[in-house]
Amino acid sequence: MILQTTLQAIAYPRIIAHRCGGALAPENTLAGMRIAARMGCRGVEFDVALTADGVPILMHDDTLERTTNGTGFVASKTMAEITRLDAGGKYHHAFAVEPAPTFQAALRTCDELGLWANVEIKPTPGTEAETGRVVAALVAAHSANNQPSTILLSSFSALALQHALHAAPRIPRALLTETIPADWREQLNACSASALHTAAAGITTEHIAPLCRSGIPLACYTVNNRATATLLFAAGVHAIFTDRMDLWTPEEMQGLVPLRT
Ligand code: G3P
Ligand code: MG
Repeated sequence: MILQTTLQAIAYPRIIAHRCGGALAPENTLAGMRIAARMGCRGVEFDVALTADGVPILMHDDTLERTTNGTGFVASKTMAEITRLDAGGKYHHAFAVEPAPTFQAALRTCDELGLWANVEIKPTPGTEAETGRVVAALVAAHSANNQPSTILLSSFSALALQHALHAAPRIPRALLTETIPADWREQLNACSASALHTAAAGITTEHIAPLCRSGIPLACYTVNNRATATLLFAAGVHAIFTDRMDLWTPEEMQGLVPLRT
């Protein structure tokens, strides 16, 4: 049975911008959030890791090379070193001054833009417990006056989620997987997660049906065409992460899917 520590209901936007602005902006940037909001998107997903001095920032990879003009491991650089890098120019020179934002700046920007957020805890190796704890504690402080929370935590790391639970028991959590595991119920229970986020690739209605019957919220990444999204929604998937928010109208992206937890 799912532990009753998640006191706030999960409500998903059906279409969630992957890594802030999907394919329409440099990933994990405030510019991406602004573009998602301007396009009428209701919610964004982004990845959070810790710097060497323990500050959570938006970053997908363990290393800086792919998305910034820096080099080396994220976990070996301070917040000051990382936030002065260019995290936009590799996407397009028009974004060349865009920094990797701190998590706190990202939360503020979501508030300003009215965006729901799925915060993916993305620990660098060996920092699972600390990243889960630090990110969740900040979300708890941030969400203290928001009932219900407009933030959903998720992670591929069960350990990170367990530590998030202790730091912020009222903030809902989702377990991330690459496929729907046969023992999904046990895996969700092990980290007291109340939703599953899984890859859309290779998923079938047979995989989805038991989750739907159980009422467990299910969201799929990364879905970049409408036909696939339509099939997934018809099969019972509640939400999708996409790089292509431009495939839906603002009207289609409005409205939350309320879910039982
Ligand atoms: O949270 C959904 C999705 O972002 C997981 O994959 O690698 O893009 O973080 P990734
Ligand atoms: Mg992610």
